[in-house]
Amino acid sequence: MDERIVNLKVQFDNDLNNTENVSDLEGIRVSYLGKKGSITELLKGMKDLSNDEKKAFGQDVNIFKNEAADKIAAKMQELKEKEIEAEIKSMPYFDISIPADLSRGSYHPITLVQRQCEKIFRSMGFTVEDYSEIVTDYECFESLNIPKHHPARDMQDTYYLENGQLLKTQTSAAQNAIYLKYKDRLINEGVPIKAIFPGRCFRNEATDACHENTFFQMEGVMVDKNISISNLIFFMKTMLSEVFQKDINVRLRPGFFPFVEPGFELDISCLICGGEGCPSCKHSGWLELCPCGMIHPEVLKAGGIDPEEYTGFAFGLGLTRLAMMKYSVKDIRDLNGGSLKSLSQFTDDE
Ligand code: DAH
Repeated sequence: MDERIVNLKVQFDNDLNNTENVSDLEGIRVSYLGKKGSITELLKGMKDLSNDEKKAFGQDVNIFKNEAADKIAAKMQELKEKEIEAEIKSMPYFDISIPADLSRGSYHPITLVQRQCEKIFRSMGFTVEDYSEIVTDYECFESLNIPKHHPARDMQDTYYLENGQLLKTQTSAAQNAIYLKYKDRLINEGVPIKAIFPGRCFRNEATDACHENTFFQMEGVMVDKNISISNLIFFMKTMLSEVFQKDINVRLRPGFFPFVEPGFELDISCLICGGEGCPSCKHSGWLELCPCGMIHPEVLKAGGIDPEEYTGFAFGLGLTRLAMMKYSVKDIRDLNGGSLKSLSQFTDDE
């Protein structure tokens, strides 16, 4: 092999071994393989050689050139990895066991209203129940006196899962489980069933300022001997007056829900005008807030409770709607939008 090639090879290996960072290596690449690099220059010098010499020389230089390119690429990889490792090592140590600075966060307005309702109902002897978001058709409909093909199902455009279960469209879906859970205590020990169960519900709704496919409700039930509509009115009035921190009047209008009989729409006196009539209540003095009613005998039966002996009331408070009213949120999408700027301005009254 031509001496010039041998010498350049030695020099190249030397240079490569002495390179410790990516930018120096890039310099070496240019100085050997660039347009004016030493290997390229070798090829240019071939013109003075004989034809036979040219062939062998050309081949040797090309092999050297390829080897050099491969060696540079390998070294580049090695140096980059080393640089990343060094960078990681130089990072400040992150201790995940240090408690977070919670003063920076804030509760979502729906969480605030939910907790407030829970607190009020707990103080009146209700238990707060948690229930799954995925339920069976039986829980969400059949046990609530809504058989298959009942027109009431049309009101709740339901997300069904492939296994036949569904995303609950209403917190009422937990009623059956609650009755079954507490019925023995009611029947054997005379302890009334008093439970609320807040939860996320899902319906296939087109989204606009007032509708979302995901929203929160809070269901409440009370079952005992001699429970009447007056009990229902008392609990709702007490709860709402606490939530809004003022005396709230309520009225009941007839409403239809297959799982209550009679069923009602509960209206509250307008929060803005107090009942005088204003644009926000469309001059009626009332705002529609909470459907409710006396639990249907079939629903009690499905829960293992004898409707001849026990009666009860149920209500389905729209928590999302309540939060919007309490905090004057005009567009429901602001609640799910995740903008901290708008969501972090709400605080608990207490
Ligand atoms: N689950 C009903 C809905 O989402 C609301 C409802 C109505 C709940 C009447 C009740 C009730 O408990 O008694 O449309």
